[in-house]
Amino acid sequence: MLYASLKLLHVLAIVVWIGGMVFAHFFLRPAAMQLQPPQRVPLMHGALQRFFSAVLVAIVIVLASGLWMIGRVAKETVQAGLSFNMPLDWSIMSALGIVMMAIFGHIRFALFKRLDRAVAAQDWPAGAAALASIRTWVGVNLAIGVLIIAFTLLMA
Ligand code: HEM
Repeated sequence: MLYASLKLLHVLAIVVWIGGMVFAHFFLRPAAMQLQPPQRVPLMHGALQRFFSAVLVAIVIVLASGLWMIGRVAKETVQAGLSFNMPLDWSIMSALGIVMMAIFGHIRFALFKRLDRAVAAQDWPAGAAALASIRTWVGVNLAIGVLIIAFTLLMA
């Protein structure tokens, strides 16, 4: 039951992270492109600020629940007198998950800071450039995320 609850939390946090990226990338941005930069850049800034705060919480949940599940299985395996070898899909998920988190760190703490400064200075060209970089890296993270889900579920 505890294991199933951890897995549920893990997957719900992933739904928020991946689902939010899909929404921002494919729905919000194309609609916002109809606006002029002085309206568009602050709108995207406000939406991304809220989304990135939620992603920070999602990352803590994904990491904590993921490591906890690995720890539980490893402990039970060793207690049964067997040696624990991480399944291939878990290893790939963990490694690529860390890559996604590092990319998010770059998005949130370098690129979004640039957007923040541009909005404060009402420098719309700089804001649009920061948004374009954020879009590229969100696209990369979305592709890695979908790859992880596909690999994990197809391997199961
Ligand atoms: C460092 C980060 C991560 C760790 C340590 C981790 C670890 C785990 C573990 C141990 C499980 C349980 C698997 C099972 O019981 O079969 C799991 C399930 C799952 N994880 Fe992760 N994970 C991480 C990141 C991610 C990411 C970034 C994604 C997606 C983008 C993801 C998607 C999933 C999915 C969809 C499941 C359910 C798989 C199933 O029930 O077959 N995980 N994860």
